[in-house]
Amino acid sequence: MYLFWMLLLVHHVLQQPNGCFACVEQEKIALLDIKSAFTRQEINADPYSIFESWNKNMECCSWDRVHCSPTTKHVRSLDLHDSIYSYGYTLNISLFLPFRELRSLTLSYNYFNNCIPSNSFGRMAKLDNLEYLDLSGNYFDFKALSSLAALGSLKALSLRDFWMENEFFTNGSLNVHKQSQMISELLINVVVALSKLSKLKYLDLSGNYLNGTIIPYLGGISSLKTLDLTNNNMNEGLDHLNAYQLWSNMSKLDNLYLLGNSLNGMKIIPFLIIAPSLKTLDLSDNNMEGSLSFKACQALSNMSRLENLYLSWNSLNEKIIPCLVGASSLKSLDLFQNKLGERFSLKGLVKYE
Ligand SMILES: *[C@@H]1O[C@H](CO)[C@@H](O)[C@H](O)[C@H]1NC(C)=O
Ligand SMILES: *[C@@H]1O[C@H](CO)[C@@H](O)[C@H](O)[C@H]1NC(C)=O
Ligand SMILES: *[C@@H]1O[C@H](CO)[C@@H](O)[C@H](O)[C@H]1NC(C)=O
Ligand SMILES: *[C@@H]1O[C@H](CO)[C@@H](O)[C@H](O)[C@H]1NC(C)=O
Ligand SMILES: *[C@@H]1O[C@H](CO)[C@@H](O)[C@H](O)[C@H]1NC(C)=O
Repeated sequence: MYLFWMLLLVHHVLQQPNGCFACVEQEKIALLDIKSAFTRQEINADPYSIFESWNKNMECCSWDRVHCSPTTKHVRSLDLHDSIYSYGYTLNISLFLPFRELRSLTLSYNYFNNCIPSNSFGRMAKLDNLEYLDLSGNYFDFKALSSLAALGSLKALSLRDFWMENEFFTNGSLNVHKQSQMISELLINVVVALSKLSKLKYLDLSGNYLNGTIIPYLGGISSLKTLDLTNNNMNEGLDHLNAYQLWSNMSKLDNLYLLGNSLNGMKIIPFLIIAPSLKTLDLSDNNMEGSLSFKACQALSNMSRLENLYLSWNSLNEKIIPCLVGASSLKSLDLFQNKLGERFSLKGLVKYE
């Protein structure tokens, strides 16, 4: 009798981990498929030893970079950034289809090649909880990226650094200007496709050498709250009229990042037109010099909702200060590394007096 109770107790204890961390068996198998696909024959596979914890002795919900729902135990988030270091590996989308409750998938900086079939991301439409997708730092084919339009549940998408050392673009025969034009053209098609994503609130297109001709196309994604265009080439090819149409469509935009775009005092005007509705505007590390034009200054003083304004690393002088008097909601203002002179004053700015 005693032995029976002991056995029952041992059995119970062995079952315990399932209660806490157990993952769904099918998903555990699917995770192990990912591990074997990502570590197979690759000389530089798993540079950060992510997959060491992915072994059968541990419950898969406690594996590195795997997060499960506390209630259903289904995998909810999977972070596979920098998990493979081999240029030119073809990503197999089927590997992610078993995770029906997946909300967040990060595949950034794996340098996956462009051999991926053109409907690949469209197949992920089955994952109807997917809200966050980070595909930055890969070389995916742009047709494949257009198939992202089928992911209706998507709220945030990162397509950063597609330009980066891309074999296709860094062909010795092409100069930087030509390469920039090519990537702009291709990404415009992707952006047009993305306008179907009515829930998309966050889009990161930074580090792609995009020029200003992409701006009118972005207007199609009217649900956006945050648009990150850091480190692009927005000073070129901007059309002021188009910009106006665009912004009239983007009435929900709260945060706009334009850091590092070589924008001068004239070129910022199309972006300031939407200033009345913005909460965050980042114009750091551009080419704004001296004092702003009358029009730019006037537009700035209309920014009644603006809370955060970043103007560091420009060459602005102290005449910028009166332009900010109307910005009555301003909470943070960064003017680091400008030419304000020694005795400028923030007088007139409500919060800084
Ligand atoms: C892609 O992954 C699926 C699921 O693991 C597998 O069945 C299929 O054979 C893989 N395809 C290729 C081309 O490796
Ligand atoms: C790259 O350049 C080589 C010759 O320099 C050319 O044969 C090849 O087609 C080019 N590749 C692309 C993708 O433009
Ligand atoms: C901007 O990019 C487009 C492609 O989208 C290209 O046709 C155009 O020449 C570029 N303009 C400038 C000024 O670089
Ligand atoms: C504005 O958005 C609507 C639908 O949201 C779209 O049909 C239209 O083309 C957009 N206009 C511009 C200028 O992007
Ligand atoms: C500033 O706002 C006023 C009214 O709100 C508007 O008439 C004017 O055109 C705006 N000026 C600029 C430069 O945006």
